[in-house]
Amino acid sequence: MGKNIVEKILLEHLVEGELKKGTTAGIRIDRTLTQDSTGTMAYLQLEAMGIDRVKTKKSVAFIDHNMLQQGFENADDHKFIQTIANKYGIYFSKPGNGICHQVNLERFSVPGDTLLGSDSHTPTAGGVGMLAIGAGGLDVALAMAGEAYYIKVPQVIKVELSGKLNHMVSSKDIILEVLRRQTVKGGVGKVYEYAGEGLENLSVPQRATITNMGAELGATTSIFPSDEKTKEFFVAQDRLEDWKELLADEDANYDEVIKIDLDKLEPMVAAPHSPDNIRRCRDEGKIKIDQVAIGSCTNSSYEDLMKVSKILKGRKVADNVSLVIAPGSRQVMEMIARNGALGDIISSGARILENSCGPCIGMGQSPGTDAVSIRTFNRNFYGRSGTNSAQVYLSSPEVAAVSAIYGCLMDPRDADFEVDFDGIAVDNFLIDDSMIIAPSKDPDSVEIVRGPNIKPFPLNTALENSLDGKVIIKVEDNITTDHIMPSNAKLLPYRSNIPHLSKFCFSTIDEDFAERSLNNKGGFIIAGDNYGQGSSREHAALAPLYLGIKGVIAKSFARIHKANLINSGILPMEFEDLADFESIDQMDELFVEDIFDGIKSGRLKIKNKTKNKEFFVKAIFNQKEIDMLMAGGKLNSIKMKKD
Ligand code: F3S
Repeated sequence: MGKNIVEKILLEHLVEGELKKGTTAGIRIDRTLTQDSTGTMAYLQLEAMGIDRVKTKKSVAFIDHNMLQQGFENADDHKFIQTIANKYGIYFSKPGNGICHQVNLERFSVPGDTLLGSDSHTPTAGGVGMLAIGAGGLDVALAMAGEAYYIKVPQVIKVELSGKLNHMVSSKDIILEVLRRQTVKGGVGKVYEYAGEGLENLSVPQRATITNMGAELGATTSIFPSDEKTKEFFVAQDRLEDWKELLADEDANYDEVIKIDLDKLEPMVAAPHSPDNIRRCRDEGKIKIDQVAIGSCTNSSYEDLMKVSKILKGRKVADNVSLVIAPGSRQVMEMIARNGALGDIISSGARILENSCGPCIGMGQSPGTDAVSIRTFNRNFYGRSGTNSAQVYLSSPEVAAVSAIYGCLMDPRDADFEVDFDGIAVDNFLIDDSMIIAPSKDPDSVEIVRGPNIKPFPLNTALENSLDGKVIIKVEDNITTDHIMPSNAKLLPYRSNIPHLSKFCFSTIDEDFAERSLNNKGGFIIAGDNYGQGSSREHAALAPLYLGIKGVIAKSFARIHKANLINSGILPMEFEDLADFESIDQMDELFVEDIFDGIKSGRLKIKNKTKNKEFFVKAIFNQKEIDMLMAGGKLNSIKMKKD
């Protein structure tokens, strides 16, 4: 039986277990990436493990999230990451060099290798045929220390593309179509493997837009073959030595096949407030807009910005619109600066931001009150832009740029001007790696610089056989990590300062949560479906840990967040009978007993003392997870192993 690409990579990297669907297998990680927002904590964890140098083929620390330097905090954190990277054998991409996923794609991606990144859009590198997975910072720290990464062997879904995209329809519309069909929950436990003759006309940056936003499906990752198109990209990046062909076998097997005819796709948007709330632009109508933001790790490639510049050339941004543009990397910025495209963009009235995440993470450019913003980004969850009342639409660069000119949401095919995108492709990118700093060859001489914002990593205590505590908060379905631990510009500088950050835990839903939790010495969280969706943000587990939360009982969990809870020694449990969710109220007192036996059998009994009622929850874990929970988190369990 032939193999698909995912099976080929997994088999080559398997170090524990077998490739049996649904079971957990350990794989070797070749490469890692971190960004500053999750990286500070990952490096504190790496340090706590007591190794001398990273054991991966290559690890890279990027600075792209916390770029505002209104106080000392961000600058101090950048220095901390730079010095610790220098000492531990990690490459350092300086602030200003670009967004981690864009720079990684350009300069570090390798077909057939495994990549673990402490950012949920790490799957972007799947655009070149890398098995690239987003994880919590602790998992990435462990991978750097040479430990295996454990994944549930995924189902592999073949996405078969036929035909060719029409003018003004882009690869963003392909992933919006996948999201429309599969929803934000549809990808859990799956890898999406793209195939078909439709690939012939998709460049690597276009493919990377698709794998990037595949994260919104809740998928483990997404991947493309490494073919002649991929080879072209590596040649143009002057990295042919890193390229190798990687194709699925003709008779490869898949768990499911999705077919998309590219000829039939139309420009679409994800309407507020979810990336799967998909509408055709023409159906949505010409809504008046206030802001357009182009950039992010989804759509900030050279190709994207060249299309934008061609649309804007000789035209002006509408009076009612603020158009902001952040190129994805210094390579992109410098190339459009040198070829004149940046001049066309500036002349249209666009505002140019630095090469970083910027507005995607609410780091500046929050929309005004009740404003409508069109963004080429990947997420439009409620409040993510920094403005709770804003209406954020996600679109392709073509839709965004044409809408900026008209001042309203537009199907770009309805514009009264013609734009020709021919000649955009380049066969050599501008190569200058001078903002990527290689680690020291003499690590003993490197001193790690720690500012006052770097606080120790919070550690849990060993699990007890019974837990007694109040329901500190009860929340509904689809709670995101943004709800649990908001990540706005004011809070981002405190990612390495959990005591300060935890004061804002759940603050967009319930301002008193942190105080109530501390006053009650912690307790439980009750949640609906898909709890913790959205990002790999480890802080969404670390802040509750600091506040004393012992367990979360949900209808279901998002994959990465569940893993982060276990890593932190917080017990994730799922309602056996969903109706029990209704019978619990905030501040009810819960009692869980016989936990040690229960987590082995996969079932726990919980007594609601306030309602004098009992119910059962699923508590299904593999042996490693049980060990972690028993020890009070992953770091404690690794330390125990070493002692
Ligand atoms: Fe940055 Fe937004 Fe991507 S925060 S890494 S541009 S999802």
